[in-house]
Amino acid sequence: MKKYSLYSVILGVISIMLLINIVSIYISVTQHREDMIKAAIEEKTHLAEIIDETMTSPLWIYRLALVPGMERAFIEEMSEFEDVKYIRVVSSDGTIYKSSIKGEWGKIIKEPDIYRVIKSGKKIVKDQDFEGERIKLIIYPGHRDKTIWVGFTLKRVEEAIRVMLIRDISFSLGGIAAVLLTLFLTSKEVIIDPLKKVTEACREIGKGNLDVKIETKSKTEIGELADTFNEMTLELAEAKDELVRLNLHLEEKVEERTRQLKEAQEQLIQSAKMATIGTLAGGIAHEINNPLGAILTNTQMLLMEVKDPDQRESLKLIEDGTRRCRDIVTTLLKYSRKPELGEFKSINLNDVINDACNLLQHQLNNENIKIKKEYTKVPNIEGNANELQQVFTNLILNAKDAIKRIRKEGEIIIRTYQEDKLVVAQVIDNGCGIPKENISKIFDPFFTTKDVGKGTGLGLSITYKIIEKHNGRIDVSSNVGEGTTFTIKLPKAE
Ligand SMILES: Nc1ncnc2c1ncn2[C@@H]1O[C@H](COP(=O)(O)OP(=O)(O)OP(=O)(O)O)[C@@H](O)[C@H]1O
Ligand SMILES: [Mg+2]
Repeated sequence: MKKYSLYSVILGVISIMLLINIVSIYISVTQHREDMIKAAIEEKTHLAEIIDETMTSPLWIYRLALVPGMERAFIEEMSEFEDVKYIRVVSSDGTIYKSSIKGEWGKIIKEPDIYRVIKSGKKIVKDQDFEGERIKLIIYPGHRDKTIWVGFTLKRVEEAIRVMLIRDISFSLGGIAAVLLTLFLTSKEVIIDPLKKVTEACREIGKGNLDVKIETKSKTEIGELADTFNEMTLELAEAKDELVRLNLHLEEKVEERTRQLKEAQEQLIQSAKMATIGTLAGGIAHEINNPLGAILTNTQMLLMEVKDPDQRESLKLIEDGTRRCRDIVTTLLKYSRKPELGEFKSINLNDVINDACNLLQHQLNNENIKIKKEYTKVPNIEGNANELQQVFTNLILNAKDAIKRIRKEGEIIIRTYQEDKLVVAQVIDNGCGIPKENISKIFDPFFTTKDVGKGTGLGLSITYKIIEKHNGRIDVSSNVGEGTTFTIKLPKAE
């Protein structure tokens, strides 16, 4: 759509006003002029009437005989009348009977209107050129077939009309100028400037800047518009902020959910893996258990009989090895056993960890490893104290082994705290750390990096099973060369 500036609209309105004014001035002046001409004609007709009446009255005729030259004087006097140029008395045959124009007496004018006027008894008014001027002429039908001619100028009428025209036009132009000036002065402050500001602000918003504010003192609808505009931008900015915040929140939520899902998936895979291995290992352990028992009993019986020191040493080795195998098998059988839920009691995790620490105290002292307890008061949990003690024993021993790999002495920090409805325990060491590629394997049964005979690789898988049975979870974070943190989260007792 074509756009017009406010100024051009105002200019258009003013032009239309001007046009209307000019037309109305023209109509009024024309009307006035006609009226004035009409009045002048009437006045001069009246003059002709008086001349006629006077010159035909019996008294006049009587006096005429007494005062010679009276008629000439009378006509000359009458011609002195305002605006009158000349006066003639013309007979029906066109003879100028009397005239204010010198030397005209007795002359004959060929004027067909004379006959027309006498015949109709009605005056004729027409234009005429006289001494280089356009004048009006009235031919009036007088008595005794005479016509009275009054020639008069309209100069005074035209002058009056000119003055009137100048006055009307100046009034009109003055009025329009006053309107224009007022409009210009007020519109700049009240309309144009605030509107410019609104337009500018709209452009800014279009660019995405919602901090714009329109400052205006205008008390008109435009001021109101600016106020509404300001409110709108404010609401828009708030809505945008809210949207950004929601979006951010949503992103965080999605991230959190994705992370939770990934963790749940990992745990599920781990559980499935361990369930399979558990069943498998249980079956194998059961099969191996009987032959192992036979080997151990027979070896021990042979040891009672054999005296040769070399043979005894070999038998001793067999006995140790078999014992060790039996221990592993016993652990395996324990591992593959289905969790029993009946053994749960309300216990405090701090106490459980203390018990584990007490059991290991001697061993840790020998290895120059200290335990730093950073406990906070935690609510009780529902659980099996023996099993959980086993968990922390394994975690502390693993931490000890990790520290010993790279240092002569070290410190294990054990931390407990509450996190919403969970009781959290952390075992933190500054040992060798776990390489990234091993992180996914450490909870697998039989995964160990320890020397043969030193580790079975069952510790963490049993730990995992116990924590899972307690409806908790275990997580690990580790950096090679810096240390490892195991975090256990268990639900607090209802
Ligand atoms: N705190 C730790 N620091 C570094 N590595 C660790 C730590 N805890 C566990 N590991 C790694 O995880 C492996 C598996 O541990 P897990 O407790 O299951 O078995 P293990 O300690 O090797 O043997 P077991 O516990 O049966 O005697 C370990 O061999 C070790 O490589
Ligand atoms: Mg271990």
